[in-house]
Amino acid sequence: MDKKIKDVLYQAYVGESKAALRLKVYADKAEQEEYLPIAKLFRVIARSEEIHGERCLRMLKEIKSTEENLQASFESEVQVAGVAYEKFIKLATEAKDETASSIFSQSRDVEDGHAKLYKEAMAHLMEERETTYYVCKVCGYVSDGVLPDECPVCGAKKEEFFKFE
Ligand SMILES: [Fe+2]
Ligand SMILES: [Fe+2]
Repeated sequence: MDKKIKDVLYQAYVGESKAALRLKVYADKAEQEEYLPIAKLFRVIARSEEIHGERCLRMLKEIKSTEENLQASFESEVQVAGVAYEKFIKLATEAKDETASSIFSQSRDVEDGHAKLYKEAMAHLMEERETTYYVCKVCGYVSDGVLPDECPVCGAKKEEFFKFE
């Protein structure tokens, strides 16, 4: 593929992904403010932006076999937790921004957890495994099979967890 096309496909993928995430957060806000039709509109357009991003990703040939996708996801988590977030935590600490530093360090801990989940999944790729995941709404911590009384990363109560069956 032409290098320039590859670059713009990547830019479009990043831009659409960012827009989709931002729109979902706007939708949550609209919901809290009880603008339900607006919340719905934001969610619909977020899904539409995701479709744009997905098309670009497929064009970029970043979607491989599930085994390779698990491996790539594992490597990405290790990199994000061990390199990117470490750097962000250091910067935030130096700038004495405790909120940013705490958010980054919680995210780093959660990313370590993601890496572990991928590693386990790679080891048991062919097993049909039934589980329920619980995700902390505050920090994103993922618990496999158990709803914790309290989030081990941020301390949120169990009422703050989403259930993924
Ligand atoms: Fe992650
Ligand atoms: Fe949490």
